[in-house]
Amino acid sequence: MAQQIYFYPAWLRFWHQINALMFLMLIVTGLSMQYGLFRIGFDVAVSVHNICGIILAFNYLIFIVGNLLSKNYKYYLLQFKGFFKDLKTQIQYYCLGIFRGQAPPFPLNKERKFNPLQKLSYAMVMFVFVPVMVLSGLALLFPQLILNKIFGIPGIILTDMLHIIAGFLGSMFMIIHVYFCTIGAKPTASFKSIINGYHEVAD
Ligand code: HEM
Repeated sequence: MAQQIYFYPAWLRFWHQINALMFLMLIVTGLSMQYGLFRIGFDVAVSVHNICGIILAFNYLIFIVGNLLSKNYKYYLLQFKGFFKDLKTQIQYYCLGIFRGQAPPFPLNKERKFNPLQKLSYAMVMFVFVPVMVLSGLALLFPQLILNKIFGIPGIILTDMLHIIAGFLGSMFMIIHVYFCTIGAKPTASFKSIINGYHEVAD
């Protein structure tokens, strides 16, 4: 039987599933507001977008508190020593090694839940893109909080731009993330693990 590691406790799975669902809803309603897609109607799209944004913000608090209490945050800590070398090794594996049937250069275990590329992208999305998205979204919901002008540019325009850029980068992350989740012991293995909590280690 393949070895299994319990990587995703219940609170993490709860956070992740709500986060993924809210992200999908925010992308659909965001695209609808911007391009009139999906025949949702502007007012409905705005209301659903605001509600999902608020749920995502509260859910982010679960992510922060859960990480602090469970020490899951240690998997996200970037090591500066050998950072670029490890990243290059992982990229080379994804571009070449994997097609030659080579073994992963950073096999996952209890101490290492993410490979260097996963670690960097998860840290960026969870500690840069999502906070910027949530904070700029809350500011747009309460525009009285936004400074009138920043360097001569209306604050609301800068906040809106920040929100759109963070939303775009978050959406790009999600597409790439789902693709990379198909790489594992089996194409469906990672998806099963984020549902039942157990990661299957490739032989
Ligand atoms: C339909 C959408 C999504 C699917 C199918 C999905 C799938 C998965 C799967 C299978 C895993 C476990 C494998 C791994 O650790 O790489 C995972 C973990 C993770 N996902 Fe997603 N994901 C989705 C959306 C998102 C979004 C929108 C975010 C962030 C904005 C996100 C952030 C993460 C993070 C940070 C982890 C690692 C959690 C931890 O162990 O600490 N995911 N996802």
